Amino acid sequence: MEKTFLMVKPDGVQRELIGEILTRFEKKGFQLVGAKLMTISNELAEEHYGEHKERPFFGSLVDFITSGPVFAMVWQGENVISTARQMMGSTNPKDAAPATIRGDYGLTVGKNIIHGSDSPESAEREISLFFKEGELVEYSKLINNWIY
Ligand code: TYD
Ligand code: MG
Repeated sequence: MEKTFLMVKPDGVQRELIGEILTRFEKKGFQLVGAKLMTISNELAEEHYGEHKERPFFGSLVDFITSGPVFAMVWQGENVISTARQMMGSTNPKDAAPATIRGDYGLTVGKNIIHGSDSPESAEREISLFFKEGELVEYSKLINNWIY
């Protein structure tokens, strides 16, 4: 089953949007297989956002993502990587469509509420950066697996 890494950023946690965001992905039909509230170290932030190392916003991005607790999650389901990106909306909330998370709750690109993996490769990389194998649950033994 396809999996993706999603994370409510410090602004989303402080604005009490964790529940709202969980609800959107639950109602869509995806399954939550891992979650934790945590504070990201500088080292983990620099590794996670490594692809942006040379960008002018890298320093402020690392400062922001380490500025308070985040809610890290792994979700699974058919096409969850691209569907979650659609549900998040464009990176810059000013371009994000209504009914997307960033479109509904964000104002500025620096504080855009949520992170989501953008490809199967980044999903695998990010899941293993944030979660150990034993921290993810399996639903496959459920008799009434009512989601699928
Ligand atoms: P990026 O990976 O391009 O966006 P996304 O989160 O949609 O995958 O950028 C990572 C984060 O960096 C983005 O969520 C917010 C921040 N950022 C800025 O602060 N300024 C910028 O100009 C860009 C492109 C991103
Ligand atoms: Mg990205």
